Parts: sequence; C-alpha cells; structure tokens
Amino acid sequence: MATPVDAIRVFHNAFRNDLERIDAAALNAAQGKKGLETTIDRFRFFNEILVWHAQGEEEAVFPALETVAPLVAEAYVKDHRGLDEAFDELNSSYAARDTLKTARATAAFRFHMNIHLLKEDTHLYRIFRERVSLPEQGKAVGIMAGKIPKERFAEMVGWLFPLIGNDDRETMTRIWQMVMPVPAFAGVKELIRKSVGSEWAELVRRIPTLERKTE
Ligand SMILES: [Fe+2]
Repeated sequence: MATPVDAIRVFHNAFRNDLERIDAAALNAAQGKKGLETTIDRFRFFNEILVWHAQGEEEAVFPALETVAPLVAEAYVKDHRGLDEAFDELNSSYAARDTLKTARATAAFRFHMNIHLLKEDTHLYRIFRERVSLPEQGKAVGIMAGKIPKERFAEMVGWLFPLIGNDDRETMTRIWQMVMPVPAFAGVKELIRKSVGSEWAELVRRIPTLERKTE
C-alpha cells in the first residue's frame, strides 16, 4: 500500500525524466539541430517545482530526520545549494543564447541531480522510513505538498503525470485520494484525466473507484 512518503519518489522520477529530456534537447541544439527551444525552455518550470520540493524537504523532512538520525541531512542541504548553482549556470547560459554552455550546464545539472536523488532514495529516505513514525512522515509530506502554490497546482499536475509511468501515476493518485477531501480530489481527478489522455483507462483499471459516482 502506498504511504505519503512514496509521493516523494514519484516526484524524483519526474525530475529525472524531465531533466533527461531537457539535457538531450540541449545537446541536440548545441550540435545544430533547430526547433528545440520549447523542450529546453521547460527547465524554468522544472526548476520551480524542484525548488518547492527542496524547500519542503528542508522545512519538514530534514528536521524530522535530524531528531532520529543527527547530522545526516546536513550533506543534503549542501547538495540543494549545488542544485541552485546548477540552475543559475543554466539560466545565464540560456539567456546568453550560448548553446554550448547551455548543453554543458544541463549535463552538469542532470548529473548532480541524479546522484543527489539516488542518495535521497537509497539513503536519506530509507532512514526516514525506518526511523520516523508514519504519522510524522505524513505530516512532513503534507508540509511539502503545501509548498506548491494553490494557483499552480493544476499546472503541476499537467507537468507531473505525462512524465511518469503507470505505477507512479497509480501511487500518486491513490495518495491524493487518501489524503484529500472528496470535493478537492474530484477536481484533481479531472486534472489527471486531462493530463494522461487515452491512458486514463489504464489508471481506472488499476483504481476502479475513480469512475464510481459515490466514493
Ligand atoms: Fe532533495
């Protein structure tokens, strides 16, 4: 069964996929291919979500971890500042229309972020799951979710779902179904349906309650 902390892994997977595509497009552009601006330009919204995510971790997850595993999170805060630097480098290279520098910046960003997320998934969140109580985990993830401004929530769903596979879609949908009040979830369900297009049927097959009137 999905627990709230599983939502974090889902976001990590979306970050990986998005930055991988952005980096591939930046490399192609540096090699002279045209028409990749829309893909490369995704880095702005990608980074906005990454920053909300990192702020949520620093405000909620890391302090909770500190009480059960002192001094672990400190190294991850340094990683986050490295992500900020990677973004700044990418942002200024892109603004200068320097395709080579942009491609170098996306590659560095991707490499650092992937190592960071791998460490979080296999080390930091392992400790978090093992040592922090389930209610405390839920509280921390709730604070993280609150970092996404309400008026950007729809945009975030439209970003997230096309970037993840069906297992992650199912996990995320089940978590929202579990933690959100019924009317709020009804709205989110429509956003999900819109964002996955014809793959909605697969999600309903996995979670039949999505199409039941009274749930
Ligand atoms: Fe992180």
